[in-house]
Amino acid sequence: MSSRAAGSVLLHHLGPRVFGPASSAAAAAPRPLLALAGGGERGAAAVWVRLQSTAAAEAKEEAAAPRGEEGEAAASKGNAGGAVAPKVEAAASKGNAGSTAAAKAEAVEAAKEGGGEKSPAVNSYWGIEPSKLVSKDGVEWRWSCFRPWETYKPNTSIDLTRHHEPKVLLDKLAYWTVKSLRAPTDIFFQRRYGCRAMMLETVAAVPGMVGGMLLHLRSLRRFEHSGGWIRVLLEEAENERMHLMTFMEVAKPRWYERALVLAVQGVFFNAYFLGYLISPKFAHRVVGYLEEEAIHSYTEYLRDIEDGKIENVPAPAIAIDYWQLPADATLKDVVTMVRADEAHHRDVNHFASDIHFQGMELKETPAPLEYH
Ligand SMILES: [Fe+2]
Ligand SMILES: [Fe+2]
Repeated sequence: MSSRAAGSVLLHHLGPRVFGPASSAAAAAPRPLLALAGGGERGAAAVWVRLQSTAAAEAKEEAAAPRGEEGEAAASKGNAGGAVAPKVEAAASKGNAGSTAAAKAEAVEAAKEGGGEKSPAVNSYWGIEPSKLVSKDGVEWRWSCFRPWETYKPNTSIDLTRHHEPKVLLDKLAYWTVKSLRAPTDIFFQRRYGCRAMMLETVAAVPGMVGGMLLHLRSLRRFEHSGGWIRVLLEEAENERMHLMTFMEVAKPRWYERALVLAVQGVFFNAYFLGYLISPKFAHRVVGYLEEEAIHSYTEYLRDIEDGKIENVPAPAIAIDYWQLPADATLKDVVTMVRADEAHHRDVNHFASDIHFQGMELKETPAPLEYH
């Protein structure tokens, strides 16, 4: 087998996994761009087109196959085609429970019926019924990726200028590590702050998940409490991911930016994982400085919006609900909320590093839960 053919086979198997949600429904209904590239042909062409797709195209695909939480949110916006996949899935799960042939027939029937329906109705064999929630205003809750009790108003009066002065070697190392990453980021994104924010959030959502996971495993291994730090770090990761879900609505990444996210995640996840194992003190300090840089970037972003260089478009619906913003909120309000979140993450991570610097473990100090 030639190396070209081998590469094609590799992309055939890995492409859908690494570049997007592995969805049978998505495969069954390729987006127009993929069709142009050969009607859903696999291999390098498909991967290439996938990389070039925009956030808008992504949203359409998610709506057509609402398997994940974002897909559900997109479907709740009223996409008629979204009814097909869940029905097929529900029927398939029934098949696992007993009659495969009957399930297949039901799946085909569901696929025929599903096209015209507006909201997917899944008959669960397991007795799982989606809860019907309402917002504070009594309106039916439209998001499944977060719930009304997870929304909040960040404290925007937080001191944005606070800075941890690096005095010891480890802090200086953390500081200059982050500073050295700033230059290539500036060159790559320049003043495209929407994409820059999105890229930043794909990285920022990693440390909390890694730290929370490692503390979780430590708690299991040592039969000990975590002092609330597992939850705090996982909440941080989730909050960062919500930043990403928000910026997806206002920025459309180019194909090479999507490729960069892939590469950066592969490197950064592993580097941070190892770094946290070796020195959580250093790892939290790095994140503290990353958050300081994030505050700086969002301040620049706000400046460009105020100067009219970036259009102050209406805030995405997901942001209005998540940060309890007024209905007429704009991008400027959203960036202000995100910046306040970053300031809170900065404090939490510098605080965590300080605890280690004082020779203690995180569990010895109660975690700042609900610190927004
Ligand atoms: Fe963020
Ligand atoms: Fe952050």
